[in-house]
Amino acid sequence: MSSFRSSSWVLFFCLLSLTLFVPVGSLTTTINSPDGDVIDCTDILAQPGFSHPLLKDHHKLQEIPKNLPNTAKNEDGVSGWQVWNRNGSKCLEGTIPIRRTVSQENGTTSSGAGAEVTEGYEYAIAHLNRTREVYGTKVTMSVGHPKVDRVGEFSLGQIWLVSGSYEKGDLNSIEAGWQVFPGLYSDYQPRLFIFWTRDAYTLERCYNLRCPGFIQTSGNVLIEGAISPQTEVITIQIWKDPSLGHWWLSVGPSSDTVLLPVGYWPTEIFTCLTDHADKVEWGGEIVNRNVSGRHTTTQMGSGYRPSSTRAAYMRDLEIVINNRDFQPTVDLVVGATDPTYYTIQKTSNTSFSYGGPEHAGAIHLRLDLVFLCFCFSFFLLL
Ligand SMILES: *[C@@H]1O[C@H](CO)[C@@H](O)[C@H](O)[C@H]1NC(C)=O
Ligand SMILES: *[C@@H]1O[C@H](CO)[C@@H](O)[C@H](O)[C@H]1NC(C)=O
Ligand SMILES: *[C@@H]1O[C@H](CO)[C@@H](O)[C@H](O)[C@H]1NC(C)=O
Ligand SMILES: *[C@@H]1O[C@H](CO)[C@@H](O)[C@H](O)[C@H]1NC(C)=O
Ligand SMILES: *[C@@H]1O[C@H](CO)[C@@H](O)[C@H](O)[C@H]1NC(C)=O
Repeated sequence: MSSFRSSSWVLFFCLLSLTLFVPVGSLTTTINSPDGDVIDCTDILAQPGFSHPLLKDHHKLQEIPKNLPNTAKNEDGVSGWQVWNRNGSKCLEGTIPIRRTVSQENGTTSSGAGAEVTEGYEYAIAHLNRTREVYGTKVTMSVGHPKVDRVGEFSLGQIWLVSGSYEKGDLNSIEAGWQVFPGLYSDYQPRLFIFWTRDAYTLERCYNLRCPGFIQTSGNVLIEGAISPQTEVITIQIWKDPSLGHWWLSVGPSSDTVLLPVGYWPTEIFTCLTDHADKVEWGGEIVNRNVSGRHTTTQMGSGYRPSSTRAAYMRDLEIVINNRDFQPTVDLVVGATDPTYYTIQKTSNTSFSYGGPEHAGAIHLRLDLVFLCFCFSFFLLL
């Protein structure tokens, strides 16, 4: 009895100290973005990333590597390109911004290069002609504002770094870019997104910070935050740190090579991307849900075909190979899965334009004409 009483006292004091301690320990500040996003500045060590079974209790936060290429000396001029921080909002040192989400979906509608073409994923992408061991890539891409037809569809521009294979079910992929995806974000703004999988998009696949894996270090970049309409291009770099092997993500709001390190995919979470990537790809992807057997009107890129000056583009493509320095690509090849709708065109050894379809308007016009002719003939017959 007495031992029961003393243990309940212990419990009582534990609970008391917990309630007293929690508000002090969490130190969460909240930022309300003008676009309606609610952002919690979360203690860097309390972020979801660390709770991945392969990181939990083992992984030590890596400081930004001293030799990380193209790193901004300070954050002036490389932040403020997203909607939430245009007025200078940021999370204090030691905390990172996390967008509050209604659903905690971790990517049931994942993207995958060359995959699931039958399910309506369509691509217009560039890749290297020759297989190489790739340790990083950098690209400057225009930010598109494509129209997305249905909530279950998306449109994006991104990088893929891939190793492993679909056949063996061990495809590992690291992905980053911009994406319009109403089903995931509840709006039609282009947002910065990241993604990874290590089992060919089966169970271990993850968007943004919605499940454990990626470790963010920056208080100044909001993953899955909207890109402001004034931001025309973003530069994205992914670089494998040779010392610890983590894949570092850096992003900047222009074509300068001064970028802000955002965080990293730890090497521990991968099975095939542990040393290098076998493949790198850049380009656009959409989902065509083919409702009632009709091809979607969802646009890729900016909605213009490469022949237009308003087409979406990617340029200054660089890769890291053996010597681990960034160097321009020399053997780009391009291809599209459904060129009647979306196409891609090389514009130099290091750049291309892509997108489409610009067909919806034309079809409507044609239907109108057919209808007019029909009415007119009918009128003549009478
Ligand atoms: C920016 O605006 C948000 C609300 O729109 C406000 O909460 C925040 O304090 C502002 N930040 C700065 C640095 O002015
Ligand atoms: C994603 O969600 C599914 C289903 O809820 C779960 O089985 C899977 O483990 C999750 N993936 C990650 C990487 O958390
Ligand atoms: C779209 O639907 C039509 C009719 O159901 C079908 O013939 C066609 O193969 C479908 N296309 C795709 C890409 O699913
Ligand atoms: C493009 O790459 C080829 C090698 O594939 C090279 O011969 C050519 O000089 C390059 N062009 C430019 C403009 O750098
Ligand atoms: C790709 O490789 C093939 C075969 O080696 C070659 O014929 C072709 O010219 C190459 N294309 C480019 C764009 O380098």
